[in-house]
Amino acid sequence: MPELKLLSRNFHHPDQRDLQAALNRGAYQQLKRVLAEKTAPEAIIEEVKAAKLRGQGGAGFPAGMKWSFVPKGTDKPKYLCVNGDESEPGTFKDKVILENDPHLLIEGAALCCYAVGIHTAYIYIRGEYHEPQRIVRQAVADAYEAGFLGKNIFDSGFDLDVIVHTGAGAYICGEETALLNSLEGLKGWPRIRPPFPAVKGAFACPTVINNVETLSCVVRILEMGGEAYRKVGTEKDGGTKLFAVSGHVEKPGTYELPMGSSLKELIFDICGGVKGGKKLKAVIPGGSSTPVLKADEVDVTLEFEAMMAAGTMLGSGAAIVLDETVSIPEIFTVTARFYAHESCGQCTQCREGCTWLYKLGLKILGGHGKPADLDLILDLADQMDGKQTVCPLGPACAMPCRAFVQKFRDEFLSLMKS
Ligand SMILES: Cc1cc2nc3c(=O)[nH]c(=O)nc-3n(C[C@H](O)[C@H](O)[C@H](O)COP(=O)(O)O)c2cc1C
Ligand code: SF4
Repeated sequence: MPELKLLSRNFHHPDQRDLQAALNRGAYQQLKRVLAEKTAPEAIIEEVKAAKLRGQGGAGFPAGMKWSFVPKGTDKPKYLCVNGDESEPGTFKDKVILENDPHLLIEGAALCCYAVGIHTAYIYIRGEYHEPQRIVRQAVADAYEAGFLGKNIFDSGFDLDVIVHTGAGAYICGEETALLNSLEGLKGWPRIRPPFPAVKGAFACPTVINNVETLSCVVRILEMGGEAYRKVGTEKDGGTKLFAVSGHVEKPGTYELPMGSSLKELIFDICGGVKGGKKLKAVIPGGSSTPVLKADEVDVTLEFEAMMAAGTMLGSGAAIVLDETVSIPEIFTVTARFYAHESCGQCTQCREGCTWLYKLGLKILGGHGKPADLDLILDLADQMDGKQTVCPLGPACAMPCRAFVQKFRDEFLSLMKS
């Protein structure tokens, strides 16, 4: 399937981040329309449900359903947190939105706030993303000045404040409850659920947390109508998705494809195949936490359930392409090192497990490994995976590490003296 630029249709205009240029291309029309027509908030949630919009931050939870979990009739304030932490290795698609079309995100966030009855939204941006932070702050300031944010937007009586908040360089703060703690000025540790953020989130109030891309899609859903948007994708995964492709391909970058496209086509047709004519060894399909696919396994459909059926995950849609020269034991070790470094340390399985996976990787790379170490790795991974941890970071290390050993056992064994 070829590229389809719904979300990214204006990304190539260098002036799209300027409010007037964005307005000339239709920005804020959907917000203006729903406020002028006094569209029922529930009707927007229904459109998003009909669109089969899944969360694009990694877990793929249906966005409309998440919004409908927020209690109605509560006297507490409600909040929206836009998750722009984007720290998973391989993932850079939100950066492209923040830099190229910040008003698309602001409008999408405002539509979500109107639908859920929220009057304060936080845009939480990765600490290292200095340029995206600057661009989004400017876009928010411009939107305030034009009266698209603040009090009585478009004379509708609807008020919305948007605050840009920056992270401080911790991957864990992309996890939604760690993000909440970070936002509140606390240590960025994930919280035990329940209660879920929809009921008790920021400042102990009902909170929606959505990824940058998820919220940006809402504008296109309202432009096209939920059903038409869904039809672009598949029965269960509507619309399009941004795929960030990195590693050994001729044309790395961010590409927008309909849900249900082929990973093989993405790599070979759209990204021009493996760099320098080398052979494909493997693909990590959805960011560093997703189980690797071997070269002969990449003929899979890019949708959440199909990827799970293939033993991996769509994740954040960040495909890392590895050519024949890559050492899988090295990839295993750097992956484990990353998670060991980023673990917040609350749960024993994660704190100890990630560290031990890293140490075993170093042992094997150093030529001191024994075949029994591979069984130990698999045993550790099994104990880290599952539902015993406060958040999914431990499992997010276990899953790829397990797959590396299961699928490339001989390569690990080749580094061992018998
Ligand atoms: C360790 C960890 C890091 C995460 N980082 C991000 C992130 O940077 N951006 C993001 O949107 N979601 C991230 N998530 C997923 C969020 O917890 C949450 O599911 C997501 O923000 C919900 O938005 P969505 O439903 O629109 O995808 C992370 C999860 C984990 C466990
Ligand atoms: S799984 Fe890891 S990162 Fe998540 S709460 Fe437990 S120790 Fe912290």
